[in-house]
Amino acid sequence: MAQFALPKNSKITEGKTWPRPTSAKAEREYRIYRWNPDDGRNPRIDTYTVDTGDCGPMVLDGLIWIKNNIDATLTFRRSCREGVCGSCSMNIDGVNTLACTKAMSDIKGPIRIYPLPHMPVVKDLVPDLTNFYAQHASVEPWLQTVSPTPRKEWKQSHEDRQRLDGLYECILCACCSTACPSYWWNSDRFLGPAALLQARRWIVDSRDEATGERLDNLEDPFRLYRCHTIMNCTKACPKHLNPAKAIAEIKRALVERQV
Ligand code: SF4
Ligand code: SF4
Ligand code: FES
Repeated sequence: MAQFALPKNSKITEGKTWPRPTSAKAEREYRIYRWNPDDGRNPRIDTYTVDTGDCGPMVLDGLIWIKNNIDATLTFRRSCREGVCGSCSMNIDGVNTLACTKAMSDIKGPIRIYPLPHMPVVKDLVPDLTNFYAQHASVEPWLQTVSPTPRKEWKQSHEDRQRLDGLYECILCACCSTACPSYWWNSDRFLGPAALLQARRWIVDSRDEATGERLDNLEDPFRLYRCHTIMNCTKACPKHLNPAKAIAEIKRALVERQV
């Protein structure tokens, strides 16, 4: 019988419990994945106590408080702090989401935080998104035209503009792709829900004139058809988008162009 075991150096060990803040009126415990490529040690889970009376209500506020008050080496990405940039995505309480829009009060017990699953880790909570961004680039996410460029702008009716709703809002946080089992096992060849949602965004754009080439580029057993409609992507999206539906619509467009 096949046996599965993690490589020894990937096993998570018990980490350090950092001193509690003195004189905190309200506290939350954070248990955070730590890994430093430079120290040669296995990943570990460190435990911190956050003074929630001294920081904002979101999980990201607690992380920033830890970095400022307890452990400056804790490494994570963040920028906008309001769910717009997509950089603070991580696995919180077992779910991929944005740390800046996830309230501490929505989580029972210790707040457990890991990097996005199934991605190489750069350090602590920072995943390596090189492949993810390359896949996004591969769908050529920009307007492509052959008609002469208009003097002012490429016009679009209100109805055609509305067809982009639910697609253009993607912030490329990668919560969906890293929640998708097909992407976990085939991320080298399957584009994943985020890149496919972006592909759909350009396929339906009434101003774009490369629809045929875009569909040709996706007609592939791995790039598109590794999606098995498991729907984890849609469940995970913190912006309430529906990548699974976008993928189904691409598949339908490929069928329709054959008839
Ligand atoms: S619907 Fe497709 S892309 Fe979304 S989680 Fe399932 S397999 Fe992955
Ligand atoms: S579809 Fe949603 S989960 Fe996926 S990258 Fe875009 S915003 Fe993030
Ligand atoms: S910090 Fe920008 S989305 Fe969270």
